[in-house]
Amino acid sequence: MAQTPQRPDPRGSRRKTGSSVRPASAGRHEATTSRAASVPDDRFFRHIVSSMRNGVIAFRRDGTLALMNAEAYRIFGLTPSAADLGRAFAEGLRERPEIVRILSGAFELSHLPNRAEVRLKDLDRVIGYTLSQVKDDDGTPIGAVLFFKDLTQVEQLEERERLRDRLASLGEMAAGIAHELKNPLAGIEVMAGLLRRQVPDSKDAQSLLADIISEAKLANAIVVEMLEFVRPVRLQVERTDVADVVQQSVTMAESKARRGDVTVAVHVEPGLPMIEADHHQLLQVFTNLLANAFEALEGRGHISIAALASTIEGDPAFAGILPPTPTVVIEVTDDGPGLPADVTDKIFNPFFTTKPQGSGLGLAIVRKIVDAHDGRIDVSSLSGSGARFRVTLPVTSASGWFK
Ligand SMILES: Nc1ncnc2c1ncn2[C@@H]1O[C@H](COP(=O)(O)OP(=O)(O)OP(=O)(O)O)[C@@H](O)[C@H]1O
Ligand SMILES: [Mg+2]
Repeated sequence: MAQTPQRPDPRGSRRKTGSSVRPASAGRHEATTSRAASVPDDRFFRHIVSSMRNGVIAFRRDGTLALMNAEAYRIFGLTPSAADLGRAFAEGLRERPEIVRILSGAFELSHLPNRAEVRLKDLDRVIGYTLSQVKDDDGTPIGAVLFFKDLTQVEQLEERERLRDRLASLGEMAAGIAHELKNPLAGIEVMAGLLRRQVPDSKDAQSLLADIISEAKLANAIVVEMLEFVRPVRLQVERTDVADVVQQSVTMAESKARRGDVTVAVHVEPGLPMIEADHHQLLQVFTNLLANAFEALEGRGHISIAALASTIEGDPAFAGILPPTPTVVIEVTDDGPGLPADVTDKIFNPFFTTKPQGSGLGLAIVRKIVDAHDGRIDVSSLSGSGARFRVTLPVTSASGWFK
């Protein structure tokens, strides 16, 4: 049967055209208006498919690609090409072997996947998809169609939720332990002090007791830091100048970590808007990021901090309905050793550290503060190529934004 499967026709017309549905861009150059006017439904259905916010791929029974809309090309990171249509889908989609595998099952599986998910490894994207057969009037399968959506953003949100839950329960536990430890530690310190007074003449006992007191103080400092971390962040929001925060954080980071000969280049875009944020807490964010960069560079190298205005598109489902959120993006980049992939996954976890003296709370606190501002933080790094931490903060605080 030479029929093409891509044109649902409610009137049941059996026009044989042999041509395939083209992407929206090709449709604009449709030759004669008289022909188009005589088959308005055909064009209409074509535009439905090309305007869909879902990715759509259809292929014929013989395995040739009949349709691939613009969203499908976008999700797969491929360049639209009219030459793809009519070719075997396995060839047109050879860069996406996961998808070729799914499409290949269209006429073999007894139950086709509905609302299934697949991860495109090299793009690090998650796709939710449904595969259906296309049948003609007699019920004979003449092709198949894959509908899919990019779920990456949804996944990231879920992952953040999970992390937040994990941190919340971990926080409760840590707060409990810290609270219990504070009293005995204070007791040790006080009693060691008393004992010191009772043995004023014994040099050995004095030095041992001095050690006990300083160790107890150290343990107490860790407990205090832990409590600081688990306490919910309360923001004192004010109009904040990011340029000030960035400048001050350089000075503060120098007092926290050794800078050595490291150069720090600060670039703040002219006209950057003031943001609604907690100045003091943001200072902590950039101080921690810079201190980490100093520590990674071990006295030699370059750091750049760049701040620029940007926007975030909201949920793609509401694109064009909700205006994009104005943001300020601050990037802290160093040319140090960078992070191996397995370490990158863990750096924001509390107590994860690769440093002998580190507590591993620096980035966990950074993330907590950024979250409290309804911001985002992400890191891009490869072993040996330095690290880049990108903090995105809304210009207006969330409560103001959703009012
Ligand atoms: N700029 C960077 N370059 C390379 N590795 C980094 C960088 N920033 C962070 N890291 C890695 O992430 C880990 C966690 O950082 P984090 O700031 O949370 O803890 P820390 O620096 O080890 O201890 P501290 O609590 O004193 O900050 C570090 O131990 C380090 O391995
Ligand atoms: Mg740190």
